[in-house]
Amino acid sequence: MIVLAIETSCDDTSVAVIKNSNVKSNIISSQNFHSKYGGIVPELASRAHTQVISQITKSALGDANTKIDDIDLIAVTSQPGLVGSLLVGANFAKGLSVRYDLPVIPINHIEGHIFSGNLQNNEIKFPFISLVVSGGHTSIFLVKSYTKYDVIGSTVDDAAGEAFDKIAKLLGMQYPGGPIIDKLAKIGNKKAFDFPRSMIHSKDYNFSFSGLKTAVRYFLNKEFPDGVPEDKIADISASAQAAIVDVLVKKTLSAAIEFQCKTIVIGGGVSANSGLRNDMGLECKKNNLNLICPEIEYCVDNAAMIGFIAEKKISEKQGKINNNLDFVVNPVKIRSKN
Ligand code: KG4
Ligand code: ZN
Repeated sequence: MIVLAIETSCDDTSVAVIKNSNVKSNIISSQNFHSKYGGIVPELASRAHTQVISQITKSALGDANTKIDDIDLIAVTSQPGLVGSLLVGANFAKGLSVRYDLPVIPINHIEGHIFSGNLQNNEIKFPFISLVVSGGHTSIFLVKSYTKYDVIGSTVDDAAGEAFDKIAKLLGMQYPGGPIIDKLAKIGNKKAFDFPRSMIHSKDYNFSFSGLKTAVRYFLNKEFPDGVPEDKIADISASAQAAIVDVLVKKTLSAAIEFQCKTIVIGGGVSANSGLRNDMGLECKKNNLNLICPEIEYCVDNAAMIGFIAEKKISEKQGKINNNLDFVVNPVKIRSKN
């Protein structure tokens, strides 16, 4: 089966071609212009998707040495995300469907992140624990198959990526600040400042990151009312990153132990964080668990993960495709049962 996958849920326009679970092409075009506004401007994001989506689709087909007539299925992200951005991808997919008589299946973006580790590692054994950490989501899933998984915990306020970005903004960094904090944290002392690890001892798998952002703001106002000295920025970055990473690692490990899973898979933009990859790796080693960290290209928003899970879902349903072009886009996230 050859899948053409389209992902436009936020500020990356991505199109991929997946053939029998292998990535043949995966083009990601990032809208870097949002940095000057300090965050994503939804209206500008959807307009920018419209401008590039046709060309990126041509390039993805070209890179995969595939013609549109070779495609069996179109997969497109339908939720969650920015409504205007989702609409560009969904309507483009529907247009291709009508023009080339191809079925379309709508895919949940979070499902893409849950299984992005499987993209490069087809041998991962179910059940496993998946930590999805991005700019909009922070959740732990107990994953039983490609079609069965439960949310066992989520953030009750900000996502981890949001915390990285907001703290970075307080330190005068550009959007998105997560990668900048990561880079500076490598040369800083993570024990220099003691920031709160909210909910680290709660007996559930939920997270809270908005208090950390507030704590950093109060700290900066009190300690450095005239501005943060250059030589303190790396230490603050390392200390704030450690506060986020410690909670993510502790809760994910506890989930793997309670639900007797031998494997942890991480996904989403924040899973590119070197502190998280390192500390999660060390803890997994101590506890005899396998850790799967996708390559950075598959951590961030990408269409390959959308095409991959689409193909897996179809094969778990013995190839049955319900082609219904009436599907609507939906900004809402996957909700926890408790
Ligand atoms: O998954 P993603 O590309 O888009 C969403 O679905 O949100 O994640 C983007 C988020 C941003 O908050 C960004 O700052 C964060 O991922 N991020 C990082 C790193 N790379 C991206 N956060 C910390 N360290 C990184 N290396
Ligand atoms: Zn994402």
